[in-house]
Amino acid sequence: METTGLEIVRTVAALRDQVGEWRRDGQTVALVPTMGALHEGHLSLMRQGHEICDRVCATIFVNPKQFAPSEDFETYPRGEGEDVAKLIAEGVDLLFAPDVSVMYPDNFATTVSVTGVSDGLCGAARPGFFDGVATVVSKLLLQALPDVAIFGEKDYQQLLVIRQAAQDLNIPVDVVGGPTVREADGLALSSRNAYLNEAERQQAAAIIDALGTAAANIATRRGTAKGEIAAAVQKLNDAGFTNIDYLELCDAETLVPVDDVTRPARLLVAAWLGETRLIDNIAVVATTQTK
Ligand code: PAF
Repeated sequence: METTGLEIVRTVAALRDQVGEWRRDGQTVALVPTMGALHEGHLSLMRQGHEICDRVCATIFVNPKQFAPSEDFETYPRGEGEDVAKLIAEGVDLLFAPDVSVMYPDNFATTVSVTGVSDGLCGAARPGFFDGVATVVSKLLLQALPDVAIFGEKDYQQLLVIRQAAQDLNIPVDVVGGPTVREADGLALSSRNAYLNEAERQQAAAIIDALGTAAANIATRRGTAKGEIAAAVQKLNDAGFTNIDYLELCDAETLVPVDDVTRPARLLVAAWLGETRLIDNIAVVATTQTK
């Protein structure tokens, strides 16, 4: 076991003291917010943090405000001991792991609500979700005041919502995306993959297969967006997905739905395997000139 340089703090004052001290010393700090249940996707963001900054601070907080009453807040995987061991192995410098009462004291009364990029896709399928995310992340950014904050591109819409909130609220932090990390069969890593049974785990690989084929055909204009999306939906249905919240081609910056790729676009999906909702997305950039 490596010797631990990881300091664990649970108050905003202790977080601010440590990050402030590093920055006053001329060291740069990357913040990597998480809800714990850390996997290789999170750990790749910690490594990215080390590459671009002198210090890395992770946060672990299962944020009740981003779960609807019908969702899995109570059962969301938690295990601070295992998470801490992984952070130590990655050489993370600081962990902020506050209680709910620190983030949301009894008289808490503010919501950060981003319009536009948060309206469609997961925003439409999970009302209130992005208000919860934007509120907690705005707080984390203001509490820590790091140089950079890193979020996985697997949650692409979330990344854009957070970037918009930071820009609109003049939070002086550079919001950076990290590439999606995938299993050998292409399934994007997610803490919720733990909910899949063996059969569902096999079926889940159809997501990236369907997205990848559609993205390639749209990018090269071998097929229309409409036709490719219909084929991808069919593939997911055939693979056993029980419900598809959305499978859409959107502008990569605004997330406005598009039916051609004259600008960089993103193909995004949310689909259910039994009780488990999986999301994924892939870049679609035209490789030929527009007709
Ligand atoms: O992606 C997540 O784990 C969460 O939505 C985040 C960004 C940590 C906010 O709670």
